[in-house]
Amino acid sequence: MKKPANQILVVFGASGDLANRKIIPALYSLFINNLLPERFEVIGLGRSVIANDEYRKRLENGITSFSRVEDISREKISGILNHVNYYTFDNSKPEDYKKLSEILGKADNASGTSGNYIFYLATPPSLYTIIAGNLAKAGLSNQSSGFRRIIFEKPFGYDLKSCLELNKSLHEIFLEEQIYRIDHYLGKETVQNLLVTRFSNGLFEPLWNRNYIEYVEITSAENIGVENRGGYYDSAGALRDMVQNHLLQMVGMTAMEPPSSLNPNAIRNEILKVFQSFQPYKEEDVSKYVMRGQYTGSRVRGECFSGYRQEKGVDPNSRTETYVAMKFYISNWRWGGVPFYIRTGKRLPTRVTEIVIHFKPTPHFLFQSGNQSVENNQLIIRIQPDEGILLKFGMKEPGAGFNVKNVNMDFHYSDLGRIRVPEAYERLLNDVMAGDSTLYSRDDTVETAWKFLEPIQNAWANDQAIKIYGYPCATWGPEPADDLFEGKNITWRYPCKNLADDGLYCEL
Ligand code: BG6
Repeated sequence: MKKPANQILVVFGASGDLANRKIIPALYSLFINNLLPERFEVIGLGRSVIANDEYRKRLENGITSFSRVEDISREKISGILNHVNYYTFDNSKPEDYKKLSEILGKADNASGTSGNYIFYLATPPSLYTIIAGNLAKAGLSNQSSGFRRIIFEKPFGYDLKSCLELNKSLHEIFLEEQIYRIDHYLGKETVQNLLVTRFSNGLFEPLWNRNYIEYVEITSAENIGVENRGGYYDSAGALRDMVQNHLLQMVGMTAMEPPSSLNPNAIRNEILKVFQSFQPYKEEDVSKYVMRGQYTGSRVRGECFSGYRQEKGVDPNSRTETYVAMKFYISNWRWGGVPFYIRTGKRLPTRVTEIVIHFKPTPHFLFQSGNQSVENNQLIIRIQPDEGILLKFGMKEPGAGFNVKNVNMDFHYSDLGRIRVPEAYERLLNDVMAGDSTLYSRDDTVETAWKFLEPIQNAWANDQAIKIYGYPCATWGPEPADDLFEGKNITWRYPCKNLADDGLYCEL
């Protein structure tokens, strides 16, 4: 990571959860690691009326609770918080942007921040175009006296149409190079390590294609429910919340061709090509290739977990999916005929994100398999929580005969000792400050991802007969998700067992 030029970071929605849990703790960590600009100020803007001291106190609590940095002290926290100032702000009032412009000018003069500004929109998406438009009217998108960059959180759009409209409005104000769309999975160390695993080892890449790979499986499971985000989640669902962005980006990194360089556009061009090669779903096939589910109440080791429809902010008759599993193909030279199975869900038995490359079997079974079945080789790339790589292969069982035993070669990041794996937001903030957009989503990739999902969104909206299955909390989702494998002798990898004591699978 690099030390960026002097600048001011303006956070819209600064009194919200994201600033408190992610943005400010990430800044603290960059500060501790001497990765903030020499001259740096943060201006927090929010609707709530909060005195500056009180705001800083809140942030201090946020850093203490959410930072993963070991070196936390009041003195060091003050080192960053002395550069944070909060102002009550109405996003819809043009006069407030004039005031913001004055505040920025004064801060530049007092702190030598060189007239460079980043605007971070940690706000609901409905405010994106309003804020961008008002910034432009106040002359704050103009780069004549320093750089201007703008960061958007996901979801970036609600469907293809809204995403196209949003990109169009933003491009009337900002150049694409000024726009940074966050997908925090791209900031995860282990997601980036996918590039290194694939393209720095002579071993894997020759096998990384349809000739040797039978299928690819990507899982992002969470054991938590929607927590206090029921209101947002009920209008989003797992397809928009996780698949459109995080899962498809992981597919992109897994399936892309080697980029010509590490230049931001070289990498993003390759991800775009993968997205453009997705074999489109036909609306009438959606029920066969895409399964959706919603968690229902269950007991886990005696403790009761409520179902999704009982969560705060959720419609009691909601048909929003908290689980999605799908099968699709990438129609290109490398992947033709190789199925990709991806799934994500809330309230599954554990938190795990992993990519499993399932290799083809040997052409002929020469050996006995003893009393266990011979597994095909698998390469498991564990994104979280136990970051690492696992290779499963067959070995001779010691003793008479030639019995094959399945064994693991297992690398854990933690084996590297006390090397700290940076948080996704640290990396992403450091990158935007340095003007590196490699790990941010580009306009065309986001649009192409929505385009791929459009038939699913249409089918679910138009065909009430498409089922949504209930699955008890702490189980691996609806059983019909196994049907995606269409009777082949394979199924999902289950990193642990279902944990529910009771609860019923049902059709909702
Ligand atoms: C967010 C989603 O983008 O990612 C959340 O909105 C989800 O619903 C979260 O819980 C998962 O992120 P992570 O880093 O915990 O895997």
